[in-house]
Amino acid sequence: MKKMVIRGCLTVFMLLSIGSLSMAAEMPEPDGDVLWNYITSESPYTEWSYWPDHQGMQAGRAPHGPLHKVFVNKQALESAAPPLQYGAIEVKENYSKDKELKAITVMYKVKGYNPDSGDWFWVKYSPTGETLKAGKPMGCIGCHSARVANDFVLVHEFK
Ligand code: HEC
Repeated sequence: MKKMVIRGCLTVFMLLSIGSLSMAAEMPEPDGDVLWNYITSESPYTEWSYWPDHQGMQAGRAPHGPLHKVFVNKQALESAAPPLQYGAIEVKENYSKDKELKAITVMYKVKGYNPDSGDWFWVKYSPTGETLKAGKPMGCIGCHSARVANDFVLVHEFK
C-alpha cells in the first residue's frame, strides 16, 4: 500500500515537472520566422499593450521612420525596472509620414542569447513578415547602446 502511494506521488510529481517544462518551452526560439509566427499567430502583438508612457501612434526619429507604434507583451509590461524580464518582447511598427506601414522591428529578451549586450534578439521584418535582419546586428545594438542603463529601451522610462 505504502509503495503504491509513493509511486502515485512520484507519478504526479513527474506529470507536474513535465507540465512546467512545457510551460517554459512556450516562448519561441530566437529565429526570425519562428518569432514572426509567435507574434502574429500564437500571441498576436496587436492584442498586447502599449507602455503607459508611450501609447498609440507616436512621432519617431531616424532610422525607424517618422511615425511608429510600440506594442509590449506581458513580460515587458510587468518589468518594473531594468533589466526587463526574460521573455519580454517589444514590437515596433514603423510608418511613413502618410501612415503606410514600412517595417516591423522587434526586440526579444532571451536568456543567454547575447549576455554582452543585454541578451536581446533583434529583428527587422518587412510589413509581410520577411526577415530582413536578425540576431545581433551591430547597427541596432550600437545605436540602442546609448541607453544601456535602460536595458537598450528608448521609448519607455522606468520609474
Ligand atoms: C541610429 C539609431 C538606431 C538604430 C540603428 C536602430 N534603432 Fe531602434 N530605436 C531608435 C530610436 C531613436 C528609437 C525610439 C523610437 C523612435 O524614435 O523611432 C528606437 C526604438 C526601437 C524599438 C522600440 C523599443 C525601444 O527600444 O524603445 C525597437 C523594438 C527597435 N528600436 C528595434 C530596432 C532594431 C531591430 C534595429 C536594427 C534592425 C534598430 N532598432 C536600430 C534608434 C535606433
